[in-house]
Amino acid sequence: MIWSKYFQNPIYMEVTRKTLLSEDLRPLIMQYCEITQGMKLLDVGCGTGSFTRYLADGAEGLEITGIDADTVFIQQARVIAENKGVAGKLEFVAGDACELIFPDNCFDAVVSHTFFTSVENPGKALSEMMRVVRPGGMIASITAMSFVNQTWHKGYYSAECTWYEKLIDLEAKVWKMYQAINSIANYTKGIPTSEIPHFFAESGFKNVCLYPIGKAFSLSNAAMPANEKQEYITGMYEAERQKLLSYMELEETGQYFSQDDCDQYLKLLLAKRDYLLRNIGENHIWEWQGGANALVVGKIVK
Ligand SMILES: C[S@@+](CC[C@H](N)C(=O)[O-])C[C@H]1O[C@@H](n2cnc3c(N)ncnc32)[C@H](O)[C@@H]1O
Repeated sequence: MIWSKYFQNPIYMEVTRKTLLSEDLRPLIMQYCEITQGMKLLDVGCGTGSFTRYLADGAEGLEITGIDADTVFIQQARVIAENKGVAGKLEFVAGDACELIFPDNCFDAVVSHTFFTSVENPGKALSEMMRVVRPGGMIASITAMSFVNQTWHKGYYSAECTWYEKLIDLEAKVWKMYQAINSIANYTKGIPTSEIPHFFAESGFKNVCLYPIGKAFSLSNAAMPANEKQEYITGMYEAERQKLLSYMELEETGQYFSQDDCDQYLKLLLAKRDYLLRNIGENHIWEWQGGANALVVGKIVK
């Protein structure tokens, strides 16, 4: 609940995953994770189920369960799967990765996407994954190594955007408030990505492999359909708006961010959203998202 309310709300989760998990990467991910037709998989820390759905489209007859401790995400994962017509292939359950509710040896593979860097007790979560995967099964983890979100040109916001400087000022204040107000704002509690291969190897995996899988995404990509750009822009706006309002419920005294700041910031976010929406057809929104992801896989021998 806290995760989805204050850190990465369901809208943010869905929008950003679209930039990370592209069609062209899917065959590689399926191959590296050795996922083939008819396998029974578990996706741990599944959030709203973006990665779970992504895998479900990668091979015939997969039976996939997603588990997450945040019940808001799980509810949302069920609704999205239903709306996309894939609910029959997927099951989503609320539960703790460190005390999995499944019997021993019942999955062919256990996967996770940006999970080990988030879970408070990664060692316990990994030992639970090892317990539920069958002997000879695969455990695979994908995590971002580096991620950028950059505007790449001065002209991105033209001179007419007089609101832009104020938006940047307030943005800095918003981030300070997020850090200050919520002592658990640092939600990357797990281990650094670079330690995951060692963590697997020391835990007794065989054939631990580390594959680089990069993904870059640009709003000025002329090949990207306009409706995808629109969805991205409106989604990010809504995600930021909801997150701010959740924090304003905690910011009772206006110590870090006053109600006036909040009203003004929301107006500027809207101005930015509308500017971007007006300009996507021109392909001069030089916004760059992306980075390198690390995919670590290991075979478990019991
Ligand atoms: C960065 S998010 C990744 C979500 C999803 N895999 C994705 O990439 O879209 C990390 C997720 O791990 C979940 N999580 C953290 N600790 C957990 C635990 N002990 N048990 C189950 N889920 C946990 C969070 O609720 C959150 O949804």
